[in-house]
Amino acid sequence: MPDRAHPLQPAPRQGVPEIRARKRSAGSDPLVMITAYDYPSARIADHAGVDLLLVGDSLANVVLGFDDTLQVGVSDMEHHVAAVARARPRALLVADMPWMSYHLTVEDSLSNAARLIRAGAEAVKLEGGRRRLGVVEALIGAEIPVMGHLGLTPQSVHAMGGYRVQARRREAAEELVEDAKALAGAGCFAVVLEAVPDVVAARVTATLEVPTIGIGAGAACDGQVLVFHDLLGLSEAKAPKFVRRYADLADVAVQAISSWASDVRAGSFPADAETYHLPEAP
Ligand code: KIV
Repeated sequence: MPDRAHPLQPAPRQGVPEIRARKRSAGSDPLVMITAYDYPSARIADHAGVDLLLVGDSLANVVLGFDDTLQVGVSDMEHHVAAVARARPRALLVADMPWMSYHLTVEDSLSNAARLIRAGAEAVKLEGGRRRLGVVEALIGAEIPVMGHLGLTPQSVHAMGGYRVQARRREAAEELVEDAKALAGAGCFAVVLEAVPDVVAARVTATLEVPTIGIGAGAACDGQVLVFHDLLGLSEAKAPKFVRRYADLADVAVQAISSWASDVRAGSFPADAETYHLPEAP
């Protein structure tokens, strides 16, 4: 996929320090992050000029067909991070730490994060606030940049009683603000806010010196993230309210494959030009 085929030039490369400084209140453009799980999705998103690629544990749902993100482990993530890294993206490559990879001991968390970094990630993301502070500090102490994730944290699906908008009540909103402050204070370079009311996200965004990246958290965040398959119309599941679908690629793909199947069945594929021949006898 040569660069010249794409009218949109990729954004200049930005490392963790540049991303950390991207506050809209300081005049920065909103950050753009999208998930990617393999080489072609990373190439496509990077050519579109996004700032960050997230190898999300949503891999479990959108690529591997599971019902929740609890089904993927470090080896799965490692495999997909390596595929995304082979695309050599300009965007900063962030990898999700999967469930149970940072919940046991700090040593275990460090070695799991190191596997993702050695596979090609430049930073890791993990879910949770003050409860995860020890791990966050240890990772940052080991020079591994950390992105936080608060609000609807899909790895807590059972504890939350389902996928629900979080921090709707004053007390829960206060807790979320304190969690965000603690993560930023511990050195997280950005915090994802998922499915929280816009006023709560706006307050967190105004409070933190590091950027917030919203998904279902309103327009005040310093950036936005969406899942690749949701944005492109490749997922079958009913999309949440916050998804804006920019294409229906699943329909396009079904059309294309069924056209090819018809051609095969009608005997019009392959044509002569699509066939190898022996050289003509001299
Ligand atoms: O795994 C994921 O896709 C995510 C995004 C929803 C932020 O964590």
